Amino acid sequence: MRVLKDLFDNNRSWAEQMQAQHPQFFLELSRQQSPRYLWIGCADSRVPANQIVGLLPGELFVHRNVANLVIQTDFNCLSVMQYAIEVLKVKHVIVCGHYGCGGVRAALENTRLGLIDNWLRPIQRVADRHAATLDAISDHAACVDKLCELNVIEQVVNVCQTTIVQDAWARDQELSVHGWIYSLADGLLRDLDVCVTCPDEMRATYAEARQAISR
Ligand code: CO
Repeated sequence: MRVLKDLFDNNRSWAEQMQAQHPQFFLELSRQQSPRYLWIGCADSRVPANQIVGLLPGELFVHRNVANLVIQTDFNCLSVMQYAIEVLKVKHVIVCGHYGCGGVRAALENTRLGLIDNWLRPIQRVADRHAATLDAISDHAACVDKLCELNVIEQVVNVCQTTIVQDAWARDQELSVHGWIYSLADGLLRDLDVCVTCPDEMRATYAEARQAISR
């Protein structure tokens, strides 16, 4: 008997359903993909990228890691970005965090979990940078959520600062970077208003977003 049979059964009925709705769907997708969006999100099982934004296979290029971090030396993330932007020519990069993120909470609480502590370390630097804002919040869950928002804003900046995005803008390629946050509690996305479409916008957008979020 096949291991994890229920998952294969699910897969078969999903494929049949897709095929019934769009007879050419898999054939067309097998020939090419032309997504307009790159999603950089958290690996959390409760934040399924395609479902949240109602996009079909082929419409969203996805990179997920714990706490949706964009680290300049992470060749996994950078390779995804390079392929998405230079080859697939996506028009939008969406960094999407979520409230109640376990990675963000662990970083804030300085919880020792093992190897992952090293991965989460950059979030502690974000927390240090925004200590005044965070210290002003007495409710712990609200503090975690605020750091989730701040983390998204910082990762948007990190995306903008990669050579990949800088080069795209230098050759006048149309490319916007967005920062969103998802609520596990109601399934809704919120735009953090940190949309950056060219290098000149980055500094002002970052400053405005920080200010808006500090209120
Ligand atoms: Co998370």
